[in-house]
Amino acid sequence: MAISLTKSFAIPLLLAMCSTIFRIGSSAVFDYPAVFNFGDSNSDTGDLVAGKGFSLSLPYGQNYFKTPSTGRFCNGRLIVDFLMDAMDMPYLNPYLDSVGAPSFRKGCNYAAAGSTILPAAATAVSPFSLGVQLNQFLHFKARVLELRAAKGGKKLDKYLPDEDYFQKGLYMFDIGQNDLAGSFYSKTLDQILASIPSILAEFENEIQQLYNEGARNFWIHNTGPLGCLAQNVAKFGTDPSKLDEFGCVTSHNQAAKLFNLQLHALCKKLQGQYTDGTVTYVDIYSIKSNLIANYSRLGFEQPIMACCGYGGPPLNYDRDIGCGQTKTLNGTTVTGKGCDNSSKYINWDGIHYSEAANQFVSSQILTGKYSDPPLDNKLALPLEL
Ligand SMILES: *[C@@H]1O[C@H](CO)[C@@H](O)[C@H](O)[C@H]1NC(C)=O
Ligand SMILES: *[C@@H]1O[C@H](CO)[C@@H](O)[C@H](O)[C@H]1NC(C)=O
Ligand SMILES: *[C@@H]1O[C@H](CO)[C@@H](O)[C@H](O)[C@H]1NC(C)=O
Repeated sequence: MAISLTKSFAIPLLLAMCSTIFRIGSSAVFDYPAVFNFGDSNSDTGDLVAGKGFSLSLPYGQNYFKTPSTGRFCNGRLIVDFLMDAMDMPYLNPYLDSVGAPSFRKGCNYAAAGSTILPAAATAVSPFSLGVQLNQFLHFKARVLELRAAKGGKKLDKYLPDEDYFQKGLYMFDIGQNDLAGSFYSKTLDQILASIPSILAEFENEIQQLYNEGARNFWIHNTGPLGCLAQNVAKFGTDPSKLDEFGCVTSHNQAAKLFNLQLHALCKKLQGQYTDGTVTYVDIYSIKSNLIANYSRLGFEQPIMACCGYGGPPLNYDRDIGCGQTKTLNGTTVTGKGCDNSSKYINWDGIHYSEAANQFVSSQILTGKYSDPPLDNKLALPLEL
């Protein structure tokens, strides 16, 4: 199935970014029967909320799904949603959501907010670290093959992938941010930098297990500029000397950059080893830091301040009163509220990007310029800003 980006991606983008001029090209490079996604909140389409059984409140979800019950930590769509759109495929159902007879025909999403590459501590937000997500995938695959063997074809086609989708599918990853961000609460920068090789050794181990299982196409996002998240600026950036020219915490971004350098080297190594497969490294860091540095030219008004939160400028972030939460402070009831126009904000809730920012990042991914190997403009969505 060849993909028409013209239809699926350019139109919503055109609506949202009227000043953007497109040169619409031919066809896309993405041509996979299924997508299996692993990660954290950057690509969680409802897994943590389903798995732990809690709920988000409005205004989460307000701008697109019109309900917070999709469990996305955003006001709307995530990067993974826009990429699925670009592939002309349905949004990925979370592995742990059993409600509504979800179809996993075109893939499954194991990503859960708060997840790390390294095994989770008992106190972690998400118990679903990458190793657990991999085991969930292995269980999923074994069950699919078993059901197919027992019941045979057609009836299962609506809900489950074909056997060969596991080999032909795309395996996507966006994880590592929480390994780094979480460690700043207990470790020095030097200790964190020194721990990166062991984090990536675990990552390589998981990828290799998937390869051994027959996976051949890998798509790996690097990590974003963590130091630009209001949550980290609020906690680690109170001393202005800790901030860079854009108002981001220098040490956090330094850790992200070193992580990305080593992740890129790992991807290069795997590209050499997996001669019968593809390994695509995608430089999310550069896209997001460009967006934050050049926000005004790119149509945004607030690079760092959260749209939804409590406390007002400069960060509108309070760790005790999250977006959508209401609490009593000093006898007064206060709520983490949404801003008037989320399209002006890069950041949604101090930790996660807004839908408008996710749309921009996705459009940049789809130019193909931020990938290694480059996508050769096969995606054909050159974007002139
Ligand atoms: C901001 O935009 C300028 C001009 O396009 C570019 O040279 C620069 O690299 C951008 N900044 C970042 C941090 O990407
Ligand atoms: C609550 O009161 C204390 C003491 O007056 C003050 O320091 C603090 O800022 C107040 N908190 C809020 C959220 O207003
Ligand atoms: C929200 O902000 C965006 C970006 O600045 C702008 O294009 C749009 O018109 C605004 N929407 C409303 C309802 O003001």
